[in-house]
Amino acid sequence: MLFFLDSAKLDEIDYAISHWRIDGITTNPRHLMNAGMTMEELIEKIKPIVEGTQISVSLEIDPHLNDPKIMVEQAKRLASLSENFVVKIPATEQGFVALEKLSTDGVKVNITLVFNILQALQAARLGAYYISLFVGWKEERGDFEKDFIATVVKAVKNYGFKSKILIAAVRNLRHFEEAALAGADIITAGFDVYKKGFEDPYVRIGLELFSDSWRKLYT
Ligand code: E4P
Repeated sequence: MLFFLDSAKLDEIDYAISHWRIDGITTNPRHLMNAGMTMEELIEKIKPIVEGTQISVSLEIDPHLNDPKIMVEQAKRLASLSENFVVKIPATEQGFVALEKLSTDGVKVNITLVFNILQALQAARLGAYYISLFVGWKEERGDFEKDFIATVVKAVKNYGFKSKILIAAVRNLRHFEEAALAGADIITAGFDVYKKGFEDPYVRIGLELFSDSWRKLYT
């Protein structure tokens, strides 16, 4: 399973690469806003960090676009800037038209804002590279679908589609558990979700206890 960081903040990205050996980065316009950077600024900073590595960076096209032709143009422009870039296209009808053209032309597409099985299957049929299931967003709106992740993973794998299932908007370790048990390919989570998981409070309690024993042994 691959671990991606869901952020556009360079300090978080640096930390996640050096401390957690993160496999990829996912960004969106809200992440850019939170990082106080335009897409162009992010691209300039992130290229030297990821080039020559296997780290993929998902970058989203302008969310205002709904003409597939213009979506394709913008996506191709972004994809041409680095081999590490994967272009995020929304799971709309227009987005799917753009996806078909882009995947035929060899552009790696991350279909984003996927909330149901039909969107996921369509993305797989049309050659999406990543299919991003927004599990956290669904649940935050009271749409808790038991076995949603497992169902989508099984459905897509059933037909041998090559798309990788990316579990997004991850809020807690239960999402990690569900994703891993379902055999999802990738999980993308925010900095704080990883930090909280890696800094489990029981570790600190354990280290205090063992330090105490160590001191008693050697003094
Ligand atoms: C994934 O690619 C998305 O950028 C992300 O998971 C969106 O969720 P957020 O609410 O954590 O920003």
